[in-house]
Amino acid sequence: MKKNCFFYRKKKYSIEPNGVITKKSHSNIALIKYWGKHKNKIQIPLNSSISYSLGRVYTVTRLIYQEKKKRNLSIKIFLSGKEKTSFLPKILEFFHRISFYCSYLRDFNFIIETYNTFPHSSGIASSASSMSALALCIMEIEKKLVFSLKKDFFLKKASFLARLGSGSACRSIYPGLVVWGSHKSIKGSNDLYAIPYPYKVHPIFKKMVNTILIIDEKPKKILSSKGHLLMNKHPYARVRFQCANQNMDRLISILKIGDFQEFGELIEHEALTLHAMIMTSRPYFLWMKPNTLNVLHTVWDFRIQSKKNIYFTLDAGANVHLLYPIQEKKSILKWIYSDLFFYCKKIIESFCY
Ligand code: PMV
Repeated sequence: MKKNCFFYRKKKYSIEPNGVITKKSHSNIALIKYWGKHKNKIQIPLNSSISYSLGRVYTVTRLIYQEKKKRNLSIKIFLSGKEKTSFLPKILEFFHRISFYCSYLRDFNFIIETYNTFPHSSGIASSASSMSALALCIMEIEKKLVFSLKKDFFLKKASFLARLGSGSACRSIYPGLVVWGSHKSIKGSNDLYAIPYPYKVHPIFKKMVNTILIIDEKPKKILSSKGHLLMNKHPYARVRFQCANQNMDRLISILKIGDFQEFGELIEHEALTLHAMIMTSRPYFLWMKPNTLNVLHTVWDFRIQSKKNIYFTLDAGANVHLLYPIQEKKSILKWIYSDLFFYCKKIIESFCY
């Protein structure tokens, strides 16, 4: 599908002058990380990525649209009832980018009310769930204009629009394992929008627990948009992109045969590589906090001792995502509360859905 097919071209249409749309979208955690994007293109990744969408960790967005009386666009944004003017530049840029594909947006003013079930900018991808929820709201407007709009197109274009807000957001449109970025071994994968992972997945990877250890609730000091840019001059960038692509090939066969240890080794390596990239950028940065390291070492020790299938992944921040099979949930969760709780500000019990 070419990006031209996402244009909404009609100049005249009828739609009620005011309306409210509410949508929910989940956060996601990447197993193979997207880190680095093309310099002169908008939100095009330099390697393909794959993520799990996360249950219980989501954004609910209420989009109120009102027909414009004046030419200037007005957008107000509220998070948990509080107006957030600091979010405006990102949202305005998003609307500016997507109004090219959704010309009807130019006729309205908007109030965006959002609510997250988790702290924003803390390394849980709040931009992924919020941008995807907003993209879904916008597609609901488009659906009012195009009666024949098919579900498949609705989701593809929602993913395409979400990507223009935040790269990883395009993966949040679908549940389960989701791929974004062109990869030679994944049919249908492309850089413009995400697709549900199209191949066989062993049952062990279908019901997976994701326990999120919040080590630090404060917003990150370096935003991922800045971090991506640092990859353009990164001395190890080329090797990193090659490695990510090879990891994708490995993961395809791991997901098929159900080798949990191989899976765990791969996702931990990916997580540490992402952090190694930011640590070796110029300027360099460290997302981990002392308690992040305490958790990682405690997990490694526990794994050796107990032989349990518990592995971690990390996002662009200090928090830790623990992944383990549902069959082991009871005993592992008990251990997390007894041995890891001490290092955390909060624990979020999520799952890959
Ligand atoms: O979606 P962005 O532009 O905020 O980038 C997020 C990138 C990572 O979360 C670090 C990795 C990923 O693939 O989700």
